[in-house]
Amino acid sequence: MHSMKVDVLLGLQWGDEGKGKIVDVLTPKYDIIARFQGGPNAGHTLEFNGQKHVLHTIPSGIFHPKTINIIGNGVIIDLKILQEELEKLIAKGAKPSKNLVISKKSHLILPSHRLLDAAYETYKGKAKIGSTLKGIGPTYTDKTARLGLRMGDLNMKNFKERYQQLKELHFGILKTYSFDTTKHKIDGLSFEDYEQKWMQAIDFIKDIPILDSEQFINTSLRSGKKILAEGAQGTLLDIDFGSYPFVTSSNTISAAVCTGLGVAPNKIGKVYGVFKAYCTRVGSGPFPTELFDNTGEELRQKGHEFGATTGRKRRCGWLDLPALKYAIMINGVTDLIITKADVMDDFDEIEVCTQYKINETKIDYMPYEILDDNLEVILETHQGWKQTITEAIRIKQLPFPFINYIQYIEKAVDCPITIVSVGPDRKQTIFRH
Ligand code: GDP
Ligand code: IMO
Ligand code: MG
Repeated sequence: MHSMKVDVLLGLQWGDEGKGKIVDVLTPKYDIIARFQGGPNAGHTLEFNGQKHVLHTIPSGIFHPKTINIIGNGVIIDLKILQEELEKLIAKGAKPSKNLVISKKSHLILPSHRLLDAAYETYKGKAKIGSTLKGIGPTYTDKTARLGLRMGDLNMKNFKERYQQLKELHFGILKTYSFDTTKHKIDGLSFEDYEQKWMQAIDFIKDIPILDSEQFINTSLRSGKKILAEGAQGTLLDIDFGSYPFVTSSNTISAAVCTGLGVAPNKIGKVYGVFKAYCTRVGSGPFPTELFDNTGEELRQKGHEFGATTGRKRRCGWLDLPALKYAIMINGVTDLIITKADVMDDFDEIEVCTQYKINETKIDYMPYEILDDNLEVILETHQGWKQTITEAIRIKQLPFPFINYIQYIEKAVDCPITIVSVGPDRKQTIFRH
């Protein structure tokens, strides 16, 4: 049998595009779902049977018992958060020890990484990133600096020693930042209490197989298994191509599937790009189409735009076509998925950014100077559909102005929209073509 390819699903904006929901919907078509980057800064929401579930580290295929879920080598793990996620799943009747595996090469987020995250944000003051403070930046920094600890190290005799050594290095850095480690709470706990829970989690997660996931994945591909890679964050938060420095610390794009799972570039298949019918962003950084008026507030309220990980208000604005085109280009998107258009069901008019204007010059790509105060957006107005679309189960049931809007986007970005999500539930998903 000739080898299968890995399909990819990722976010094309600043995260929270609805990736978790769509992965859950697509899971029956796959044997394996694999996360390839990011960590518990992610919050992926799934809804079915009237219940809502939020996942942070665990792939969104976990509720399908026949699907294997992989936490790949590119992912970073906070053991305490992982334990809590596992406990919640087990309480809901899932059996993660049967369908979850973790790469030996995934790096560990130490409690002291979380202190460093807080220290760096405090140091940045007004220029802070608005990090989720889950220790993402410091952990990827230590990975690159060749100081990190990995899942596979947990079983080694000298683990505690290496842990202490790295922790002491971190405390040394914290001192130079005059960071008071006794005052800072990590998710409501003192450092010592957090550390104790983190250590206890090592025992708790012993039921989950730790393996060479790159071997597992490539063997699975050769034996004809279908794999979907699930992205976290979004393209505009990518460490290289996002609005640096207001980004996360990993590559969030399709190329990261290769390094984050150990899959060769010629083994990548379809690339599903998920985008909201408008835009949101949590934390600081440029957001050209951001709305500061009632319309922005309406999007936030109707779209329940509050963070799934931190509960923070998400900033809201119109759909940004230059940014979307950029994301499609960087990822090689083959299939677009539009979510949350239903949030605008009552809107008389919907605006879309078609170009930027920078120093009187019109451009239709993302400029390096995105942080420039002189960046203006050129908006185009579209007629709203003024009809509820949340009940639709077939394309034909969708109102004409909405179909028009979909076709307009497809033409503008030159990529087909093959899935339309019309609500948070699994069932509120329409396939096209
Ligand atoms: P993710 O991080 O990309 O998985 O997205 P989040 O879960 O952080 O945020 C998306 C939110 O929108 C969640 O609350 C979902 O339940 C919800 N959602 C997903 N798709 C739709 C949709 O088509 N319509 C509406 N109204 N909500 C949606
Ligand atoms: P999902 O997978 C939205 C944002 C943070 C901050 C910046 C850096 O649910 O789409 P970090 O904690 O990585 O140091 O934060 O990135 N951010 C997200 N925004 N969705 C996410 O994940 C995010 N993960 C990080 O708000 O601005
Ligand atoms: Mg999210």
